[in-house]
Amino acid sequence: MEIKKVCVIGAGTMGNGITQVVAQAGYDTAMVDIKQEFLDRGMNAIKGSLARVVKKGTITQADADKVVARIKTYTDMKAGAGDADYVIEAVFEKAEVKQPVLKQLDEVCLERTIIASNTSSIPISLLSSATKRPQKVVGLHFFNPVPVMKLIEVVKSLTVSEETIATSVALGKSLGKEPVVVKDSPGFIANRIANLAANEALKVLEEGLASAEDIDKVCRLAFNWPMGLLQMTDLVGADVVMDLGESIYKETGWERYKPAPLLKRMVESGYLGNKAGKGIYTMFGPKQ
Ligand code: CAA
Repeated sequence: MEIKKVCVIGAGTMGNGITQVVAQAGYDTAMVDIKQEFLDRGMNAIKGSLARVVKKGTITQADADKVVARIKTYTDMKAGAGDADYVIEAVFEKAEVKQPVLKQLDEVCLERTIIASNTSSIPISLLSSATKRPQKVVGLHFFNPVPVMKLIEVVKSLTVSEETIATSVALGKSLGKEPVVVKDSPGFIANRIANLAANEALKVLEEGLASAEDIDKVCRLAFNWPMGLLQMTDLVGADVVMDLGESIYKETGWERYKPAPLLKRMVESGYLGNKAGKGIYTMFGPKQ
């Protein structure tokens, strides 16, 4: 199936990152959100991200300007998604938020349009049940920061067609990513592993075994990871890490995924990480 226009729903961290890579790959690109201020914030993030690569000399300012010009923004779902060949939903990571969005997309999109969900843990079968096209609903799980991270988990539900999977893999490759097809199982693969490790790092911090900086130093120096798990939690968002663990625990009953109490306290206190301007390092990092 030929894809010319891609529409991304949601202008938040993941939504604007996905929009950027889609536009950089040359697709006609739409980004939809419920408020113009969210779209403006998303576009500013894209411009900031492109400015980094222009500064490094990876692309020219003229190319960056073309990428920005390729992106149209909409507050009306039908106006943005109604003529798209492929739609990627990247709204808040809650089934009760995503399902109505998928239902609405099903109503406004062309019959042939594939609807992908950038979910990190919600079963695709649950999301696709909100539509009348489960054979055309797929999971497309990107990683943060989207312009940098190479992996996409392409999540295969019981009802999705092979054609949808093949088109999604081809789209992922055209974005410069490395798609891996995974079964529709709680946490898929990446988060099933990463959530456990991040949760354990929080427990280690809570037990006072070492400082936040030293826990992260261990991660970096023992395994050559680019950043420690506490720093990664600040990057991804404490709320996202907590919701992920809760969702895997709820689905499987596996106690080991129960969010660390400290993680819950951080979320309740609004210390969500980079996006909130305060997180684990503000609370537990070296004092200025
Ligand atoms: N846009 C474009 N380029 C960016 C960028 C952005 N937003 N952020 C970083 N980069 C580029 C930089 O320009 C730089 O490029 P070059 O290699 O060409 O010089 C490169 O990425 C490295 O960046 P920096 O030198 O600024 O910083 P760094 O070396 O510390 O790397 C990092 C930053 C890429 C974030 C790195 O620390 C990293 O890979 N961290 C791990 C991130 C991770 O684990 N992500 C997964 C989170 S889990 C998730 O997302 C799934 C979920 O469902 C919750």
